[in-house]
Amino acid sequence: MPFFKSPPPEPKEGWVAHLWHEQKSADPQLHDHACHMSLVSGAVAAELGLADPDVLKLQLAGHFHDIGKLDLPHDVLYAPRRLTEAEMEIIRRHSVLGSHRLKKVGETPILSFVEDVARHHHERYDGSGYPDGLVGEQTSLAARIAAACDVYSAMWERRSYKAPLSHDAVMGRLLDGDERMRPSMFDPNVLAALKDAQPRIRKLLPE
Ligand SMILES: [Fe+2]
Ligand SMILES: [Fe+2]
Repeated sequence: MPFFKSPPPEPKEGWVAHLWHEQKSADPQLHDHACHMSLVSGAVAAELGLADPDVLKLQLAGHFHDIGKLDLPHDVLYAPRRLTEAEMEIIRRHSVLGSHRLKKVGETPILSFVEDVARHHHERYDGSGYPDGLVGEQTSLAARIAAACDVYSAMWERRSYKAPLSHDAVMGRLLDGDERMRPSMFDPNVLAALKDAQPRIRKLLPE
């Protein structure tokens, strides 16, 4: 009996618009965060000298980096208090859930790029991240850019449990560290590009 390898799924027509609409209607706050993160990613990618198509791919991936959060319980995701360790563990599942969602859409080069960022944007340069505990350049450049830009955007945003930070304060914490974060968690070249891209980022995200 001949062995037929099943072909990879074809992406649904208009998957970007479909996912965009799904994310925006299900969770407007998540959509806003994705937009901010996408803008910061584009600015950093341009600062790093990436070609325009790569800048655009990073911006696209930024829009869907947290798509797996649509599969998490809303009351845990938006609990207006400090989460328990068990709840944090639930939140950490979003990177793998996002990867699964995107793989179901299809397996094209651009979807693989977006899926990589969704799965690996919580990896840390020093190996302390998740889900795979990748170290340094084991994580793709795209996901290393996404990692720093995600944290940048989250700190800059207002949340139910915290006030927004100014661009100066965000950059200070990334470069100096705080009680939860060390600069060694991020690619030093990406941190330098974030710093150099400040004029562009401040125009994109006015305070
Ligand atoms: Fe995330
Ligand atoms: Fe995020």
